Amino acid sequence: MNYKTINQAAWDKRTRVHVTSRFYDVEGFLAGNNTLTEIETSELKDIAGKSLLHLQCHFGLDTLSWARLGAKVTGVDLSPLAIEQANQLRDKAQLNAEFVCTDVYDFGENNTTQYDIVFTSFGAICWLPDINRWAKTVASALKPGGRFYMAEFHPVYDLVAGYDYFHQDQADVDEEGTYTENCSGETSTLMTWGHPLSDVINALIQAGIMIEQLNEFPFSPYNCFENMEQRETGRFYLQHQGKDMPLVYSIKGTKFA
Ligand SMILES: C[S@@+](CC[C@H](N)C(=O)[O-])C[C@H]1O[C@@H](n2cnc3c(N)ncnc32)[C@H](O)[C@@H]1O
Repeated sequence: MNYKTINQAAWDKRTRVHVTSRFYDVEGFLAGNNTLTEIETSELKDIAGKSLLHLQCHFGLDTLSWARLGAKVTGVDLSPLAIEQANQLRDKAQLNAEFVCTDVYDFGENNTTQYDIVFTSFGAICWLPDINRWAKTVASALKPGGRFYMAEFHPVYDLVAGYDYFHQDQADVDEEGTYTENCSGETSTLMTWGHPLSDVINALIQAGIMIEQLNEFPFSPYNCFENMEQRETGRFYLQHQGKDMPLVYSIKGTKFA
């Protein structure tokens, strides 16, 4: 079996658990809450009326939150179950959105639409073996002058958690449950790859994205790792040898016109 089949099965299984979790709080979303984090909404502005492609959108909460803020959204994800749930949520929330069930690279090969904004976030690129191919997908989906934005978990966390910091061609293969509080203990096989910051930045530059901003944050908006400490609302910190770890980074760029 290849990594897509393995990870798709894992994400189908995870989606079934996630839709009823407090972590994702679907009820709150349907009541009007926005699921985007302070990092994303403070750094990616002026999206109203813009076409926005969300790569690896999971079951659509963040995609639909951008729609609530006025963007014309398209979400892409590998998991058929996640896309089915995203379509149901869109209908329940009475929002406009298109959801496409496909692998990111296949999307890159077949897509002919160019968007004003390409967005991806939190726990996305570790599922992809080739960061250069991902960056080419991002660039080809953007209009000239279009904006790229990502917020992602910091790869230094991987190092401290016992993984390589530098990219290895061979996947890390793990048997794991999921990160939501309602995880029953049931596990799936997962195949992931680490991507150091330099690889991500160089891949984007080589694909034709002009990097305008790189930020690193000593907190995560999600309480998703063991032993995190909430010091302010929605900000979870983790220490390594008594010092705050970098937990999130974000990149903002523009496609060369
Ligand atoms: C952690 S989630 C996305 C993060 C998002 N911020 C969230 O929590 O809603 C990762 C998503 O990547 C998707 N995914 C994994 N591999 C993929 C691939 N090769 N192509 C497209 N989507 C993929 C999974 O199905 C999953 O929905």
